[in-house]
Amino acid sequence: MTTSERSRPSELECITRSAEETRALARRLAPQLRPGDVVLLVGELGAGKTTFVRGLAEGLGLDPGRVSSPTFVLIQEYEREGAPSLYHVDAYRVRDPCELLEVGLEEYFERPGITVIEWGDKVRELVPPGAIEIRFEVLEDDRRRIRVRRLQRPT
Ligand SMILES: Nc1ncnc2c1ncn2[C@@H]1O[C@H](COP(=O)(O)OP(=O)(O)OP(=O)(O)O)[C@@H](O)[C@H]1O
Ligand SMILES: [Mg+2]
Repeated sequence: MTTSERSRPSELECITRSAEETRALARRLAPQLRPGDVVLLVGELGAGKTTFVRGLAEGLGLDPGRVSSPTFVLIQEYEREGAPSLYHVDAYRVRDPCELLEVGLEEYFERPGITVIEWGDKVRELVPPGAIEIRFEVLEDDRRRIRVRRLQRPT
């Protein structure tokens, strides 16, 4: 994994060269997440968002085998005794963010788990300040540029 880490710990930019490297990156970042954190994953189809969620699950001590792109369910919950819960949202099919309010998205932010949202740019207005945004850019040869940053808290 080639990393060029910037000085601020909340900002990170990496290039991964395979799905396994993306998963490993997520596994490494997972312990830094805290219950109540909201993570937005932003990137085109096949950019590696679900791969990243698998790594997060693994890093939190959850079963990565259960992670898939939810087709009919907008929100999947991964839980295990003794591990932080992970709520996995896929907003791909969401046309209007209100659809996610109807299924209770905001209630997840209050729950003692970590919420991770694929196509997170669609719901940016709904998430609490201080959410973490992870952008995936597809480069040549299976490489992905992955940027992590914390969205501004109001001052
Ligand atoms: N560096 C890389 N990081 C992540 N995935 C990679 C990488 N290189 C190749 N891949 C491949 O790209 C695909 C990523 O699929 P994944 O389902 O994670 O994407 P996604 O962003 O969730 O897509 P969707 O928008 O359809 O939900 C996989 O087939 C994976 O093997
Ligand atoms: Mg996906």
